[in-house]
Amino acid sequence: MVDRVAGWEGVQTVVDAGAGSGRFCIAAARRLPQAHIVAVERSPRMLELLRGNLCAKGLTNRVTVVEGDFRSAVVPRSGRTVYIGNPPFVRHHDIEPEWKDWYRSGMHALGIQASQLAGLHAHFLLRIVQGLQPGDRFCLVAAAEWLDNGYGSALRSLLTSTQTHLRGLWVAPPREPVFPDALVSAAVFEAECTTDTGSAHLGVLGARTFATMRTLPVAELASAKRWTELCQPQAPTSAAGIEVGDLFRVIRGQVTGLNTAWVLPSESALLPAALTLPAVTRAREIIDGTVSAPGALQRLKRVVNLPHELDTVAPDVRPLVDVFLGHARAQGAASGYVARQRRHWHALDLRPPPAAFVSYMGRRPPVFCLNPYAVSYLNIAHGLYPRTPVAQSTLERILTYLNAHTGLYSGRVYGGGLAKFEPSDVARLRIPPEALAERA
Ligand SMILES: C[S@@+](CC[C@H](N)C(=O)[O-])C[C@H]1O[C@@H](n2cnc3c(N)ncnc32)[C@H](O)[C@@H]1O
Repeated sequence: MVDRVAGWEGVQTVVDAGAGSGRFCIAAARRLPQAHIVAVERSPRMLELLRGNLCAKGLTNRVTVVEGDFRSAVVPRSGRTVYIGNPPFVRHHDIEPEWKDWYRSGMHALGIQASQLAGLHAHFLLRIVQGLQPGDRFCLVAAAEWLDNGYGSALRSLLTSTQTHLRGLWVAPPREPVFPDALVSAAVFEAECTTDTGSAHLGVLGARTFATMRTLPVAELASAKRWTELCQPQAPTSAAGIEVGDLFRVIRGQVTGLNTAWVLPSESALLPAALTLPAVTRAREIIDGTVSAPGALQRLKRVVNLPHELDTVAPDVRPLVDVFLGHARAQGAASGYVARQRRHWHALDLRPPPAAFVSYMGRRPPVFCLNPYAVSYLNIAHGLYPRTPVAQSTLERILTYLNAHTGLYSGRVYGGGLAKFEPSDVARLRIPPEALAERA
């Protein structure tokens, strides 16, 4: 990143936003001997480290240290200024309401509607953009989630619809430990303050390389809802066809609140089979095909499915139910948060069998599979419910297509390569016309 900044013409001031121990400002002071370097840091402990490091490297006179909150600090600048750094990753839960208001109104002033869910790195980005003058630029590394998620849409607008235009975006492969202490993927991105909308390089970050996979006009990026997949080597899927959500409702599986109480072995004497349902209770049963293989009903566990009105249970069975509920209560099954949200703590309201399942979390793309034995499911999977009847052969073709073509990046990928597909991510997957058409 410092090499990139050093390659930009006429840089007179370099600002390290959230300087920490000084990694960036020290490298910048050495690589850009003509530039004035400013380091902004709020934490007294980090300031001590920063000053110590600057002193040890003989750079005290080269770097101006500004103590305070970057969002309100007065940063001395002259001439063409660039911002570099690794803004703090603090989630919105830990941000004070006044600063959330500051963020929302600052974005509003730029014509952007912003979410309260934005983390501190988004606040830093806003502050940087507020201070930019024509010709200024920045190059930052941050968690990559804003490229695809809800609160990130404000940042994506910021970099495409104001006078700050994205020029480069490189996403680290999920297993690249850019932030080894956090379960997030990283992205480096740079932008320029200019009226020229221009284009941005999109690609993948290597150890010390910025590999561009494609260059897209910023205007085109403005209309793209998710950016990570645009950075990947393989071409993004075409816009032809229809979305999974047009054909199916994608419904998250049921949460029990306490599986040890509600999930029983496939053969259990605790309750009669009529008061339990066979269900997928582990993602592995979808991934390894257990759920759709012969013998599924013997191998899958059963989840207790009691009626709301216990008076409707047959009198000869009722004592068994009471004993079971006594055990469940003793385990805490009645008092947990989930149980307290239910109309009756003992009635789980398991979902009716969907036509198909999709696993949604793992170090691999999701797996789609049929549900030939009409079993229910817990929240380790999403269920696909056809909006209108779908022929079995069409359903099979769709699932085969989705299994072959769904990449990790259609979901949200966390550091370490963990991918998560919310129902809305699954609903957005596209199925091309050829995957739907009956083969001759
Ligand atoms: C992710 S660390 C990056 C440190 C350093 N740039 C590096 O890459 O090693 C972010 C730094 O921002 C500082 N910080 C957090 N909130 C801040 C704020 N509101 N204003 C200024 N600095 C802040 C933290 O103390 C921390 O040192």
